[in-house]
Amino acid sequence: MDRILIRGGSRLQGEVQVSGAKNAALPIMAATILCDEPVTLENVPNLVDIDSMERILCCFGIETKREVGGIFRVEPKTLRWFEAPYDLVRKMRASFFVLGPLVAKSGQARVSMPGGCAIGRRPVDIHIKALEKLGVEIAVSHGYVEAHGLELRGAEIVLDFPSVGATENVLMAATLAKGESVIRNAAREPEVSDLANFLVAMGAKIEGIGTDVLHVQGVQSLSGGAYRVIPDRIEAETFMVAGAMTGGDVTITDATPDHCTSVIEKLRQIGARLDVTDGKIRVQGPDEFKPVEVSTMPYPGFPTDSQAQLMALLTIAKGTSIVKETIFENRFMHVSELVRLGADITIDGNCAIVKGVPNLSGSPIMASDLRASAALILAGLIARGETEVLRVYHLDRGYEHIEAKLSALGANVERFRRGQ
Ligand code: UD1
Repeated sequence: MDRILIRGGSRLQGEVQVSGAKNAALPIMAATILCDEPVTLENVPNLVDIDSMERILCCFGIETKREVGGIFRVEPKTLRWFEAPYDLVRKMRASFFVLGPLVAKSGQARVSMPGGCAIGRRPVDIHIKALEKLGVEIAVSHGYVEAHGLELRGAEIVLDFPSVGATENVLMAATLAKGESVIRNAAREPEVSDLANFLVAMGAKIEGIGTDVLHVQGVQSLSGGAYRVIPDRIEAETFMVAGAMTGGDVTITDATPDHCTSVIEKLRQIGARLDVTDGKIRVQGPDEFKPVEVSTMPYPGFPTDSQAQLMALLTIAKGTSIVKETIFENRFMHVSELVRLGADITIDGNCAIVKGVPNLSGSPIMASDLRASAALILAGLIARGETEVLRVYHLDRGYEHIEAKLSALGANVERFRRGQ
């Protein structure tokens, strides 16, 4: 397995360009199942999770083609099989997003129960309940979800929790249902809005995009066309934290600053200087970091996907910070590894109490999930000496060229391939 070696102590400086958003590209790729004509997606990042979704589309008979520069072409009309097997779905929870579009388009779908990052139980009950409201018949047996529904009917759907994936799954299905659907307590994450905007560009009728009530007027078919995926806010936020915690001066380009408001605000509270202009975020780190309290929340609250990275910074703040995780029940796996680097963190239920220490010291550490891996790399940037991060394959699911991007900013980061 690959590992990354970081020699800490460099101050990051310069410009870094953000890639397309993985969490927007994945549901949009799933949504191409609904289309009748070819689709061209732009700004699709080159990541392992994108490969996984491409493989799933191919296993339905759909033809795909990747081109340099983030172009992803799909010919959906060759759809002829309806099963997403365990071997593919277990690698990534987002594979489950094909259930809604597949059953809406073809009347049937068989999708393995999902896997993905080990950050909690992550059930799919909200997805299933919402699809059942549209008239989909669902049975779970032998680890597979089997869905049937020849004619989906619009319905009033109230989600128990604004789940990102469940909102996306039912939104896709509702576009081809007969009549109107109203999705209440919908997730408002920018990636949900990007999916909705893609569907509208293909001919869907959706109102309330960006709010927690989505009105969908079912249409007979969706066409095709070109669509550009939004920038990755979590990648942008990872570089913002990296710039701040190394006392650096980093400008993030090709971003959508409006999507990063809660993290920008938190970094300002910590003492960093952030200047936001059209599509650019400049971060200048302070000499000393103030402790903060932070609680993860659905958008527009502080994103759970940036919690681990911020915690890496707080390990060296002057005082005690409290980090509360309210979205996932097991998202503190980076804590034990940060402690190996010398951080002083204790966990109390869903709170991590982070007592700032003067510095971290490098050691071998193990990545456990996607965003935890990013946090460990960031910690390595400020740790004295060498930090070796093992199991970095998690990182490749969500960050495009991260070592190259960090190196270009002046970090001393090197990847060793398996066996090196
Ligand atoms: C998406 C993101 C992930 C992010 C998360 C929360 C993608 C590919 N992934 O994941 O990076 O961390 O949103 O912003 O977009 N839940 C249930 N039942 C369900 C569905 C969810 O109990 O049927 C729970 C989950 O276990 C979790 C919480 O709801 O505790 C949030 O999950 P959800 O918003 O669905 O996250 P994902 O769509 O899986």
